[in-house]
Amino acid sequence: MKSYFITATDTGVGKTTVTSALAACMQKLGINVGVMKPIATGIVQKTGFKSSDVSILHRAAQVNDPEDEINPIFMPLPVSPYDASKTLDLKFDKKIIFEKFAKLKSKYDMMLVEGIGGILTPLSKDYFVADLIKELGLETIIITRSTLGTLNHTMMTVHTCHDYKIPITGIIINNYDENGGPEETNAPTTIYEITGIPILGVLPFVRDYENYATMIPYVEKNMDLKSLIS
Ligand SMILES: Nc1ncnc2c1ncn2[C@@H]1O[C@H](COP(=O)(O)OP(=O)(O)OP(=O)(O)O)[C@@H](O)[C@H]1O
Ligand SMILES: [Mg+2]
Repeated sequence: MKSYFITATDTGVGKTTVTSALAACMQKLGINVGVMKPIATGIVQKTGFKSSDVSILHRAAQVNDPEDEINPIFMPLPVSPYDASKTLDLKFDKKIIFEKFAKLKSKYDMMLVEGIGGILTPLSKDYFVADLIKELGLETIIITRSTLGTLNHTMMTVHTCHDYKIPITGIIINNYDENGGPEETNAPTTIYEITGIPILGVLPFVRDYENYATMIPYVEKNMDLKSLIS
C-alpha cells in the first residue's frame, strides 16, 4: 500500500487538518495507518506532545507510537526550522528522520507524513522539504487554498515537484478561510486544466470546526478515499 507526504502551498493551509482527518478516515476503513511529522517547530505545548500538530495526528490515527518516532525533530521556537536551528544552535540531523520513518513504515501499511511549511521550506541551508520528500521516496499530496493567489502558489509547488521528480498523487483544495475569493469556484477546474494533476477533493470551510473529527464527514463525502488505497 502506498504512503503519502502531505505538503501545502504555504504554512497554515490545512496540512494537519487534512492529514488528521484522512488518518481517521483510513482508520474507519480498517487501514493500518501510521502518522509522522518529521520536523516541527513552535511553542512547547503544556499538554500532550510538544507539538500540537503531533498531538492531533497521534489522536486522529489512534496510534501509540512514542513522540520521538512520530516527531523525531522538534525545535522550540515558532519560526522556520532553519531559522530555529540557527537561533538555538541545533544541528539538523536528517538521519534520525529516516531511521524513525523506516521503523514506523515497517509497522504500518500506510504512512501519512505531514510536512512543514511548503515545498521549499529550508530545513538547513541547502536541504529543503522537497529534498526530504525525495529522500523518503514518497509520493506527495498538495494541499492548496482556494483564495486568490492560489494558482501562482499551486503552480510553483507543482513545478518544484516536477523539477525534483517527486510524483504528485493529487491536489486537495481546502477552503480553510471563510473569505474564499473568486477563485473558490474556478480553482479546481483551472488547476486541473493547466497541470493535469487529479483534484482529489475540495473541502469546504467548516464554520464550527473543532478538531479532526469535525472534518471526517466532509472528507468522506468530498474525496475519493479508495483511490488512495492501493
Ligand atoms: N476547511 C476548514 N474549515 C475551517 N477551518 C479550517 C479548515 N482547514 C483548516 N482550518 C483551520 O485553519 C488553521 C490552519 O490549519 P492547519 O493547522 O491544518 O494548517 P497547517 O498547514 O497544518 O499549518 P502548519 O504549517 O502550521 O503546520 C487551523 O486552525 C484549522 O483549524
Ligand atoms: Mg500543521
